[in-house]
Amino acid sequence: MLIQEYAMKKIKTAIEKKPAIKIIPSILSADFSNLQKDVDKVKNADWLQIDVMDGHFVNNITFGPIVMKGIKTKLKLDVHLMIENPEKFLKQFVDAGAYSITFHIEASKNPLKIISTIKKLNAGAGIAINPETPASKIKKLLPYLDQVIVMTVNPGSGGQKFLSSCLSKVKEIRKSFAGDIEVDGGINEKTIALAAKAGANAFVAGSYVFKSSSPSKRVELLRKTAQKYY
Ligand code: DX5
Repeated sequence: MLIQEYAMKKIKTAIEKKPAIKIIPSILSADFSNLQKDVDKVKNADWLQIDVMDGHFVNNITFGPIVMKGIKTKLKLDVHLMIENPEKFLKQFVDAGAYSITFHIEASKNPLKIISTIKKLNAGAGIAINPETPASKIKKLLPYLDQVIVMTVNPGSGGQKFLSSCLSKVKEIRKSFAGDIEVDGGINEKTIALAAKAGANAFVAGSYVFKSSSPSKRVELLRKTAQKYY
């Protein structure tokens, strides 16, 4: 068997195995006057997303490693860097407990170098693409990645409307990527079904979870809905 056929067969088998569903609350929409209390309400989630914004890559500023270090949780911390020069802060976030670090392809001149640095720090490496960025921009990097975030809103704030036009990129990436495909932005019990059908297995939800009276029930509802359609 030719090596190309072998590689394609391996990818196909991996995709058929499909990565597990992950529900990932984003703390961006949590109550920062009592962050730990909100984090404790989503113990039934899989990961916790830490949305880092620098006021340059996006028109908003959130928090850094010092806030993340203060969070006490057994959930894996999925750091989403919406910042310029992400390479400058990788070790700080890993030292603060990051399980995975995703940076934006639009903010990196040497993505392969950043991916290799994240892996050398023993964290999962991910790339995020904005709504207007085509999937082709990261195709060559997929073999080196643990996860991809397909933004379904323009980054910078929670509570925005889901951009279903981005789901064609999820379908395209899933054809040749067996890792975690996260969709991020505007996820609720309706849009998660669309995203799961498109092939996403990881779902970031901020306002739908934390702006509700029962975040843990919202996490469960998202998981049940994703399982129906994935
Ligand atoms: C937006 C962030 C998203 C956001 C999701 O820049 O990357 O993670 O917090 O929030 P909702 O789920 O409210 O759209």
